[in-house]
Amino acid sequence: MDRRRSPWRLTRRTAGEYPASPGVPLGMNIAVLGTGMVGKALAARLAELDHTVTMGSRDPAAHPDLAAWADQHGVALATFAEAAGGAEVVLNATNGARSSDAVAAAGEGNLAGKVLIDVANPLDFSAGFPPTLLVKDTDSLAEQLQRQVPSARVVKALNTVTADVMVHPEIVPGEQTVFVCGNDEDAKRTATNLLHQLGQTDVFDLGDLSAARGAEMYLPLWLRIMGRLGYANFGIKVVR
Ligand SMILES: NC(=O)c1ccc[n+]([C@@H]2O[C@H](COP(=O)([O-])OP(=O)(O)OC[C@H]3O[C@@H](n4cnc5c(N)ncnc54)[C@H](OP(=O)(O)O)[C@@H]3O)[C@@H](O)[C@H]2O)c1
Repeated sequence: MDRRRSPWRLTRRTAGEYPASPGVPLGMNIAVLGTGMVGKALAARLAELDHTVTMGSRDPAAHPDLAAWADQHGVALATFAEAAGGAEVVLNATNGARSSDAVAAAGEGNLAGKVLIDVANPLDFSAGFPPTLLVKDTDSLAEQLQRQVPSARVVKALNTVTADVMVHPEIVPGEQTVFVCGNDEDAKRTATNLLHQLGQTDVFDLGDLSAARGAEMYLPLWLRIMGRLGYANFGIKVVR
């Protein structure tokens, strides 16, 4: 089977989750805010799946090799504001400690009404490794961003797996679970369908956006597992 041309065939319905119906047509305009390994992984894979992808940055020209990389992967480069403004769906893959600045630069007007999929983690490396969480228990980065841009429809997703596993879950042997949560059911459906297109087969809906607290607080455990395994290409499964 040609995975690239038949992403829907990789999906299956799991009780309690959204069906893997083609609710997000291929060929959407998607902005990926972030030029790091996550931004590159998501942008390249979404472009490969025939979406029109623009990668947002403070200044694309400030990254010397980025233009060649973008050209190779069929991804456009723009500022955060330009990328968000032209998109139907926006992914936040910026440094979690700076995501508020990136979203501010994207501009509330450019995000109004749009699905904003937040994959960032609020990690604080200021005291070295392992990082601590900048926000936890009673709040989350995703909720902060939602309060910052009330007109956007924030969905937390994919922050619980490493970049390669976000876009190629098949590199982990056996099915793994990824999560979505958010306050807007339609936005969650859009995000879930995009995750299915990426090959995620078990997308677990945690409920409203306050569930992002748990998804983000998983990071200390993720880091411990990664440290014990010695590699990052692993997942977890909600057995039910
Ligand atoms: N690495 C993983 O596998 C993984 C897995 C799950 C979740 N995450 C999360 O995904 C996010 C991206 O991770 P990453 O490793 O790809 O990249 P990163 O190095 O954490 O972030 C790079 C991005 O952050 C932006 N940024 C940095 N400082 C900024 C500022 N002051 N104002 C505005 N934007 C700023 C950069 O903008 P410019 O382009 O302008 O430089 C760049 O686009 C992080 O939140 C991370 O915790 C990572």
